[in-house]
Amino acid sequence: MAEKVNVLLIGGGGREHAIARKLRESRRLGDLWITHPENAGLAKLGKPVDVPVSIREIYRLEQFCDKNKVGLVVIGPEDPLCEGYADKLKAPGRLVFGPTAEAARLEGDKAWSKQLMRSASIPTGDARIFTDFRAAKDYLASRESPPALDRRSQGLIAKSRDAHAEFPPVIKAAGLAKGKGVIVPHTFKEAHEALERMMVKKEFGDAGKRVVIEERLEGTEVSVLAIVDGGNILVLPACRDHKRLQDADKGPNTGGMGAYCPAENIDEETLRHVEREILVPTIDALRRDGIEYKGVLYAGIMLTPAGPKVLEFNCRFGDPECQPLMARLKSDLIDLLCGACEGTLDRVDVEWDPRAASCVVMAARGYPDAPKKGAVIHGIDDAEKTPDVAVSIAGATRDRDGAIVVSGGRVLSVTGLGATVLDASRRAYDAVAKISFEGAQFRSDIGIAAR
Ligand code: AMP
Ligand code: GLY
Repeated sequence: MAEKVNVLLIGGGGREHAIARKLRESRRLGDLWITHPENAGLAKLGKPVDVPVSIREIYRLEQFCDKNKVGLVVIGPEDPLCEGYADKLKAPGRLVFGPTAEAARLEGDKAWSKQLMRSASIPTGDARIFTDFRAAKDYLASRESPPALDRRSQGLIAKSRDAHAEFPPVIKAAGLAKGKGVIVPHTFKEAHEALERMMVKKEFGDAGKRVVIEERLEGTEVSVLAIVDGGNILVLPACRDHKRLQDADKGPNTGGMGAYCPAENIDEETLRHVEREILVPTIDALRRDGIEYKGVLYAGIMLTPAGPKVLEFNCRFGDPECQPLMARLKSDLIDLLCGACEGTLDRVDVEWDPRAASCVVMAARGYPDAPKKGAVIHGIDDAEKTPDVAVSIAGATRDRDGAIVVSGGRVLSVTGLGATVLDASRRAYDAVAKISFEGAQFRSDIGIAAR
């Protein structure tokens, strides 16, 4: 009989609901404690902690873990990781899955992350970092209008600058901004406005104190996630994420409107290339700085004509990429997460369902700008009866009458399994059709064009 482990799961979104479901399948799970019982899905699977969850009073959570003999803490979102929950909650006899605050800077500080990539020659877009608005503005203006003289006297240089001038660079708030701190402008006017919103109007608060102005990369995107145990790197099947609100990648950026796995736009050889040229050198560069990385290392990659380049690093599972990954994972999740914490990933057998998985997010009316709460959701139980479908709850809670109502922007994510990505998507959409709430928004093209 495998030894039981009491687990504390931190986080309250669809990603954490999918993780909780997988934890419950583990033969090793003892008690499952959760920090977000207002999530109607998590509330069914775990027991709520009875102490405040905040970094200021983290000793309360530490005491809770001691008292309840928590052997494994799993941290889902980036905020608690960047705040240092992993550093604080680790203790003798207690493992924590997720990087330390120092290692989580890879996601939490895009300027630092860019410098690390540069120092390790990791392929990524050229970028400049600014703290001063005037300097940033002047730099942006210089990208727009190469001097006419250059054009005549230095044909080649002028050409490459003209190419830049066609596409304004991408403007990124260096700090955490709930997935909204990246602006891909269509025009230089929009790029200047973005700078102003970040550096003058301070719309992103401290996150926009430093700004990264980055070369616009062209190509298709892929999410490459790996589990890292300090030394070993286990690359997970690649996923594709859909960040725009509307079909055909139109509309504003969101936290993610759908994802599927495997990604059809990356082959095994390119995935190995990403491992060799991006993931391994990143872990090595961190180690050279005395930082050990444990947890999920997520590279958002643009597959450019010049090869794969890093758009961003995240220090956790993607949401919603986690949902299709959990749907395909056949191995025991506790074995895997403990292996990562203990540095023994090389001894863990990981098995994936050969089928594809596809996840469709249902969002509230008004998402992402001003999601409207309160709509009653019908049909979740019915949708869950669809074979090979899992519904993960993100922004939905039980009201006093026991009805499940919308309580956040991304409300649900519905994941289907199928022989191909298209089959998996059809299955997910069959289940989505059974769910209804007023103002529901979802894309109808997730995984539809994939083979
Ligand atoms: P991030 O939050 O950094 O993943 O950025 C959000 C989205 O912005 C990415 O998924 C890309 O679609 C886009 N993006 C970020 N950086 C660039 C870039 N350098 N070139 C083109 N698109 C980008
Ligand atoms: N799905 C993108 C993210 O989790 O950042």
